[in-house]
Amino acid sequence: GHVLVLAGGLSYEREVSLRSGRRVSEVLRAAGIDVETRDTDASLVPAVLADPPEAVFVTLHGGSGEDGAIRSVLELLSVPYVGAAPDACRIAYDKPTAKTVVRSVGVRTPEAVVLPKETFHDLGASAVLARIIDRLGLPLFVKPSRGGSALGASIVRKADELPAAMVGCFAYGDTALVERYIEGVEVAVSVVDLGEGPVALPPVEIVANEGVYDYSARYTAGHTEFFAPARLRPEVADACAQMAITAHTALGLRDLSRTDLIVDAEGLPHFLEVNVAPGMTETSLLPMAVEAAGEDLSVICASLLRAAVR
Ligand code: DAL
Ligand code: MG
Repeated sequence: GHVLVLAGGLSYEREVSLRSGRRVSEVLRAAGIDVETRDTDASLVPAVLADPPEAVFVTLHGGSGEDGAIRSVLELLSVPYVGAAPDACRIAYDKPTAKTVVRSVGVRTPEAVVLPKETFHDLGASAVLARIIDRLGLPLFVKPSRGGSALGASIVRKADELPAAMVGCFAYGDTALVERYIEGVEVAVSVVDLGEGPVALPPVEIVANEGVYDYSARYTAGHTEFFAPARLRPEVADACAQMAITAHTALGLRDLSRTDLIVDAEGLPHFLEVNVAPGMTETSLLPMAVEAAGEDLSVICASLLRAAVR
């Protein structure tokens, strides 16, 4: 039998996903696995019915890849897959919902306001924005409530920057998440579960050369400096690892995830979001964490597949 790697799809992160899919396919082949890689559209269903794979590795980012939709299709087709189930994805992919869930188990996350596009327009943009700044202060971080790779996301340091940030955000999604911006160190903690419970890989620290870890900083080699493991005091690194495990567990995730957080000046981590289909490109964080742990991505991906089939 063969394994199917799903990539591409129709989301703003299509290009990233194609790169993740290529990388995962390569490392699975290196592990001696028979791999088919395919772009993801409706032709997936007849293809799977005609030649069912043993399991699927989902490297689809954004949209139906992370919101649970594709996984519902795989459930319907009775094909095992790596990663979280549809319900858990739906909850985790919606950033405001994920924040509510993790906050309920004691995880610190920046105070925020959620604003659908319609409300923004109906209530009058300037009044709404003034109220947000009244409540949360400055600086703020604005991002689509569902999305990834920093598309439509921006920092607002001055009140007059907020309208443009909202417009940029609504270009990528219908609902905005406006958070109090926490100054600090950006850290990502990947979690893998090879069948013996979730384990946190070493935290990776992100230092974007232009100061902002935006789309090009993420996917252009040399635009960002990474420290793997992160340059954190051991107790701070432990707190980050604990936060990622707690988020993974509280959100009911499976197999792998990556929690992104900010460590403030006092060394306290603040949860930003969790990714149910973390990037697997050459400049992505989970592969770096695997390397920092002294593990082999090929072995990890093959083990995740084996666990999915069991
Ligand atoms: N959304 C991108 C792929 C990531 O989180 O790595
Ligand atoms: Mg993300």
